[in-house]
Amino acid sequence: MKTPFLLRRLREAGYEVRALASERALAFTTETALAVAAGGPVATEARWFAPEGGALHLELARWADLLVVAPATAAGLARAAAGLAEDLLTATILGGARKVLWAPAMNPEMWHHPATQANVQRLREWGHAFVGPEHGALAAVGEGEGLGRMSEPETIVEHVRYHLSPKDLAGRTVLVSAGPTREYIDPVRFISNPSSGKMGYAVAEAARDRGARVVLVSGPTALPEPWGMEVVRVERAEEMYEALLERFPAADAVVMAAAVADWQPDSTASEKTPKKSGKNVLELVSTPDILAELGRRKTHQVLVGFAMETRAGHERARAKLERKNLDFICLNFPTRAASAFGGDFNEVEMLFPDGTVESTGRVTKREVADRILDHVCDRLRTKEAERHAQ
Ligand code: CTP
Repeated sequence: MKTPFLLRRLREAGYEVRALASERALAFTTETALAVAAGGPVATEARWFAPEGGALHLELARWADLLVVAPATAAGLARAAAGLAEDLLTATILGGARKVLWAPAMNPEMWHHPATQANVQRLREWGHAFVGPEHGALAAVGEGEGLGRMSEPETIVEHVRYHLSPKDLAGRTVLVSAGPTREYIDPVRFISNPSSGKMGYAVAEAARDRGARVVLVSGPTALPEPWGMEVVRVERAEEMYEALLERFPAADAVVMAAAVADWQPDSTASEKTPKKSGKNVLELVSTPDILAELGRRKTHQVLVGFAMETRAGHERARAKLERKNLDFICLNFPTRAASAFGGDFNEVEMLFPDGTVESTGRVTKREVADRILDHVCDRLRTKEAERHAQ
């Protein structure tokens, strides 16, 4: 049963959570497991009407910004689509729940049945949202695999984030670069760095959730493919340069989070070079400075860079902010534990051209991403106002 995990993941993501369980749901999980995961009492049909007259379905409907139904059964969908408010869940939906996200889990025949599909269609028309079902091993014994498996808690949390994010980047195109580049010495050896891509992916996902059309230009990473955006895969700095420059004119904002290698071998051998003992000399040349080139070509775009510094951080970052013609720069410190390569947390200081500095403190990369995008939104609005005033 994935529901307690989902409750835990939602709380870890910073949401205030309450659990609601119908009598049918309590046949599959215990009230205690749900209460522990939710960190508070479970709303059940046994407590539907309080002795002093309160009605739980109305209170819950007004309290929640989003009602997540996980797992959602064929019967649950049918009751909701028919408006049959005979259980606490359906009554809460009818009682005015602002937004409903269904995570169906059922046998594929039941999912594909015209009755279920008609119910799903009807609920969609009413503005309800869905995540899954997905293809995979089914819960019922002996049913094998098929389309009917509930989405993983992490996926459901991503959809929750999407539905609860303000759509302040709607209509904007945001270009994001992420991950390292690889500069090949020969077909099996390259120069690179330990960038995981997590910071750039977090920016791309946050921009998507806030309504932007997102193009993510990614170096090689081990991260899963993000949904709802165009992903352009590159390896070398020169490929990243081409990909970004081509898409730059159509972009409203660019966040350059990639850790571009600064050097590339002067030439790449087409065959594996046999090892030689003793001292070896590798001739290196600079890679193109992508961000500096974007800064030169900037017209209406908001341009954001990163700076990784191990010393004289502010001074060096400020020099990059000016030299690369940026709207602001995000300074991080790879040697500090709070923002080490590959982690889920980061600590960034945003430096602005007017001399101000804003620190995020140590927060998740997703929170850093949202703070960066808050400023991107501000800059977009200011630039627009300036254009209109001209
Ligand atoms: N950057 C880039 N192209 C490069 C190198 C860096 O676009 N060839 C971008 C990075 O994505 C980052 C910013 O420039 O947004 C600063 O990167 P950083 O490596 O800190 O700075 P450099 O300009 O390479 O300067 P230095 O290595 O001297 O610190």
